[in-house]
Amino acid sequence: MATRVFLSSMALLCVTLAVFPRPVMPGTFAQDFIDYKTFQMNMIVDKVGGNEAAMCELLKTCNSTNPNCSREACKPSLEEVVQNGFSPAYPFIYVSNNTDCPGQDPSSNGTCHFMLFNFGKSFVRSPTTTDTGSIATAADMCAQRKLDEVFKNVSTPEDFTRVFFGSATGTWRVYPGLDEADCGGYETRFRNWYIASTSVPKAVMVLIDVGASMINKDKFGGDVFLETAKSATRELLRTLAPSDSVNIIAFNSINATQFLFPPVTAQERPNSSQNYPEYTELQAKLDELKPDQTHFEASNITAAIDKALENFDYIKRPDALKVIVVLTDGRFAEGSVILPTASLAAAKTKLFVYDVSPTAKNLTASFTTKLCKIGGSFINIYRDVKNPLYAMESFYSFTATLHHRLMNTLADFTYKLDEFSRFNETVLMASKPAFRADGSLIGVAGISIYRHMLKDNLDEIRTIVNQQQAGRKFDARTMVLGPANCTIQVK
Ligand SMILES: *[C@@H]1O[C@H](CO)[C@@H](O)[C@H](O)[C@H]1NC(C)=O
Ligand SMILES: *[C@@H]1O[C@H](CO)[C@@H](O)[C@H](O)[C@H]1NC(C)=O
Ligand SMILES: *[C@@H]1O[C@H](CO)[C@@H](O)[C@H](O)[C@H]1NC(C)=O
Ligand SMILES: *[C@@H]1O[C@H](CO)[C@@H](O)[C@H](O)[C@H]1NC(C)=O
Ligand SMILES: *[C@@H]1O[C@H](CO)[C@@H](O)[C@H](O)[C@H]1NC(C)=O
Ligand SMILES: *[C@@H]1O[C@H](CO)[C@@H](O)[C@H](O)[C@H]1NC(C)=O
Ligand SMILES: *[C@@H]1O[C@H](CO)[C@@H](O)[C@H](O)[C@H]1NC(C)=O
Ligand SMILES: *[C@@H]1O[C@H](CO)[C@@H](O)[C@H](O)[C@H]1NC(C)=O
Ligand SMILES: *[C@@H]1O[C@H](CO)[C@@H](O)[C@H](O)[C@H]1NC(C)=O
Ligand SMILES: *[C@@H]1O[C@H](CO)[C@@H](O)[C@H](O)[C@H]1NC(C)=O
Ligand SMILES: *[C@@H]1O[C@H](CO)[C@@H](O)[C@H](O)[C@H]1NC(C)=O
Repeated sequence: MATRVFLSSMALLCVTLAVFPRPVMPGTFAQDFIDYKTFQMNMIVDKVGGNEAAMCELLKTCNSTNPNCSREACKPSLEEVVQNGFSPAYPFIYVSNNTDCPGQDPSSNGTCHFMLFNFGKSFVRSPTTTDTGSIATAADMCAQRKLDEVFKNVSTPEDFTRVFFGSATGTWRVYPGLDEADCGGYETRFRNWYIASTSVPKAVMVLIDVGASMINKDKFGGDVFLETAKSATRELLRTLAPSDSVNIIAFNSINATQFLFPPVTAQERPNSSQNYPEYTELQAKLDELKPDQTHFEASNITAAIDKALENFDYIKRPDALKVIVVLTDGRFAEGSVILPTASLAAAKTKLFVYDVSPTAKNLTASFTTKLCKIGGSFINIYRDVKNPLYAMESFYSFTATLHHRLMNTLADFTYKLDEFSRFNETVLMASKPAFRADGSLIGVAGISIYRHMLKDNLDEIRTIVNQQQAGRKFDARTMVLGPANCTIQVK
């Protein structure tokens, strides 16, 4: 139905294109294009949720006797490997009308020389930052194979686009399948479109416990707790949206030391080079961080939170969300803890305390009562620390939910000039987050939009997208945060 509406308006466009300038109003090519991509995004997101809900049934079909396993983009199966030349043995298709990717002609060595698309199924890319050994990653990869059913409705050899799903576990599923030489390099959670669909403007203070006990590690070959906290922080930095503010505060029993002042502002990343020059100093100090082996008392979270609040005061964006992420072994939380609840509540600050250690904590009522009063969370993330961004899923689910409440049925459109560097003409990424029934983030679906599809309407599309977003500004001051938002998970 919606397809037909769209196509007929495209036919109309041939007549109206010549008229210039065009008013921005429903019925224009630009509006119809946005509506149609939004329709497709909603269709994909529904399917993601459906797959997730049917997880138990779908998992039964993922076993060694089923030939339809997920295919890693960098790992052709034995049957697919061929002896001569680069051509894979599976049925592939050169996208004949692929004006987005010059050089797909196999006889040339253009940038898309190896772009042999498999329209039979999507392929998956797993970054080194995920944990392919974890049940969460495997289960998600299994269930979302079913996305191919809708992906095939969005991209065909004649009407080519790349349609994909980036999971909160870090795996990225893209249709049509395309071989990649690079195993492990593509991290969907660092990408502009993924970030755009899961964030609201915010200031993030990362509080790292450097108490003496952070030198411990678990008996099962895990990392030193402090190193786990450092890895998690490094990855978190790369998931911040442009204009977000961030600082790191190390704390033990005697002092709380902020890495910098004022906090750092995350920059736009115009291309996929993934440089993070603004974090150079934070990273260097993070690398140097060691557990203080001279003070064995429980770390003083109060002092660290006071420092975080000072940082928030500096940030002159009253509408920005204020988040404190604490990475700790949780020792402090077993004692009597003073939380400046009045200041935290006044600033509508969301507090996520993540315990990276394997031992369940006996939290004191004095701590949990105060934490819950301000809608904070204490969560043991030991099980998932090999995939830190997934371990901190509650943080991303929180910001993604706030984002989704603004966007509702609309899709996000991110201007992207170089997201897939080999796709010369990618100009926009449509994206939208998908959630479980319990509100947790499953991941973000997306579609690449190429310049030629827009038929010279990019400016108009930008105008409409800007108008959509202008009417949906996030304002943390209107946020409700209280005991109903508190989560305590000791293990
Ligand atoms: C394995 O998957 C196949 C294909 O979906 C299914 O028919 C079969 O019952 C499964 N086997 C087991 C032991 O679950
Ligand atoms: C594998 O996928 C193909 C194509 O989608 C389908 O026809 C076939 O039934 C699937 N096989 C199993 C065992 O699920
Ligand atoms: C393409 O590059 C390969 C080496 O990467 C070279 O052997 C081959 O001759 C090149 N083909 C053309 C058409 O330039
Ligand atoms: C895919 O498109 C066909 C034809 O328009 C439609 O019948 C089918 O329901 C669509 N499938 C999904 C999963 O949207
Ligand atoms: C290229 O696309 C046009 C419509 O966009 C279609 O009519 C034509 O058949 C396509 N050509 C090939 C070779 O697929
Ligand atoms: C923190 O405490 C240590 C002593 O354990 C001291 O050497 C260091 O200078 C203190 N840092 C700050 C910023 O006060
Ligand atoms: C990517 O952006 C960086 C700055 O963020 C710039 O130095 C670099 O030249 C850009 N690369 C390309 C290919 O545009
Ligand atoms: C913790 O820090 C706060 C704020 O700096 C201070 O008032 C309090 O006395 C400290 N607690 C301990 C046990 O040192
Ligand atoms: C937890 O702490 C309470 C109060 O201090 C104590 O009564 C209880 O025995 C403790 N439980 C465990 C499992 O240590
Ligand atoms: C990208 O497209 C522009 C304009 O269409 C063209 O001039 C340029 O050569 C293309 N770059 C590559 C790497 O194909
Ligand atoms: C906190 O919980 C309340 C009650 O469920 C809800 O209305 C509110 O939206 C939640 N706040 C946030 C920030 O999610």
